[in-house]
Amino acid sequence: MSQNMSVHGEWSSRWVFILAAAGSAVGLGNIWKFPYITAEYGGGAFVLIYLLCVLMIGLPIMMAEILVGKRGKASPINTLKIVTQETKRSNFWRIIGWMGTFCGFLILSYYSVVGGWTIAYVVKVSSGIFSQIDNLHDKTLIATQVSGVFNQLMANPQELILWHTVFMILTMVVVVGGVQGGLEKAILYMMPSLFIVLFVLVGYAMSTEKFVEGITFMFKINFSALLFSECNNGYCTFNGQGILAAMGQTFFSLSIGMGAIMAYGAYLPKHVSIAQAATIVVLSDTLVAILAGIIIFPIAFSNGLEVNQGPSLVFNTLPIAFGHMSYGSIFGTLFFILLVLAAWTSSISILEPPVAWMVETGKFTRLSATLVCGILSWALGLLTIFSFNILKDFKPLAEFALFKDATLFDLIDFLTSNILLPLGGILIAVFVAWFLPKALLLEELEMQESNWLYRAWLFTLRYITPVGVGLIFLKSIGALT
Ligand code: TRP
Repeated sequence: MSQNMSVHGEWSSRWVFILAAAGSAVGLGNIWKFPYITAEYGGGAFVLIYLLCVLMIGLPIMMAEILVGKRGKASPINTLKIVTQETKRSNFWRIIGWMGTFCGFLILSYYSVVGGWTIAYVVKVSSGIFSQIDNLHDKTLIATQVSGVFNQLMANPQELILWHTVFMILTMVVVVGGVQGGLEKAILYMMPSLFIVLFVLVGYAMSTEKFVEGITFMFKINFSALLFSECNNGYCTFNGQGILAAMGQTFFSLSIGMGAIMAYGAYLPKHVSIAQAATIVVLSDTLVAILAGIIIFPIAFSNGLEVNQGPSLVFNTLPIAFGHMSYGSIFGTLFFILLVLAAWTSSISILEPPVAWMVETGKFTRLSATLVCGILSWALGLLTIFSFNILKDFKPLAEFALFKDATLFDLIDFLTSNILLPLGGILIAVFVAWFLPKALLLEELEMQESNWLYRAWLFTLRYITPVGVGLIFLKSIGALT
């Protein structure tokens, strides 16, 4: 039998777990990343594939991760050890814990850099620099001024390092205190406020002149924009990268594939419905991503901005909206504060698995473990920072067509979201659906075998999830070589 409670403590209620998992899922992935990669792959069709991936891959894997965590009640590395020993399965599966932990370091390294940008924007927006743009009546001039602020930030490694450091310290402070302490309260207020601010921004987006164009871009399904690239004389080359990106985004946005949700599942009190919790988390995460798109695209189109501009998209569109609104500085500051909070509740879930493992070895306190992991990840983050300035032209894999423009940041992002997370996801799906005894699954899910939800879940996790991830994966890797 498994232990009754994790050594790191337990969530004080089911709702706290749901809030914490939703806090982990909702973050920069939804508001910063989702809009710009949707634009990169042409809009509607990408969104459709993303939603399909969320349903067929994301939700089943999230349930599987929570289940394994709840059984093992330890850090992902030890949870896998405990569960494989209990069920007498091969040590091979322990790779899930190790790979996930490694992947977490990489993700946190750049997540903290972008988290730093959002802190920088709290300061910039509150200083009122964007409210003066309303006096300029020329749209192009406004756009140039706003993007100038972003470009200046990117060109300044010292400033980037400062904000990256601040963000990493914030993350470390919460993780040292243990996830329950400050976290429970922060998320309790943050999530509802975030929804309110997003809805107000949707209202603003609706008032812009190109609202319909923005919405059409996001929802009109155009497969050729997603699947084909480089058309010459009516002959287009097939390119599966968009589908791989939609799948990678599913993993990233839902925080699955590396054990973050597994680690949170380990702190679950008894008698929590895993299916219900996972569904609520997945729905809120998806809603926030869709709202972000509904806000950003109309604003971008209405101001003549290029939507396919990559990571700068949110930072170059929303300040224009705040510039035009009454009380824009106050409202904009509030928005970026909430974005910092959303990023913060995500970053702690990325740092928690390695810290929990180090504490379990008995050789570290929470403080020393957090210091070691945080500093390592911080140092790795410098690579991301430099890819926006001094190493901007360093394209290590330029000889491969797919990576011809990829900076170090692009490569780390590709490796984590599109390779390591899906790989971790397949392994989790196969391990849970094919190698764990049914009785164990039913016990942890607290379901009867006759329950159709249980059957649908197991069927999807057995056949659809691994095959889907595998196919997308092989197709895209094949395109590489
Ligand atoms: N899901 C978060 C976001 O959308 C990021 C995140 C938190 C994450 N924990 C993770 C991504 C674990 C991958 C794996 O911003």
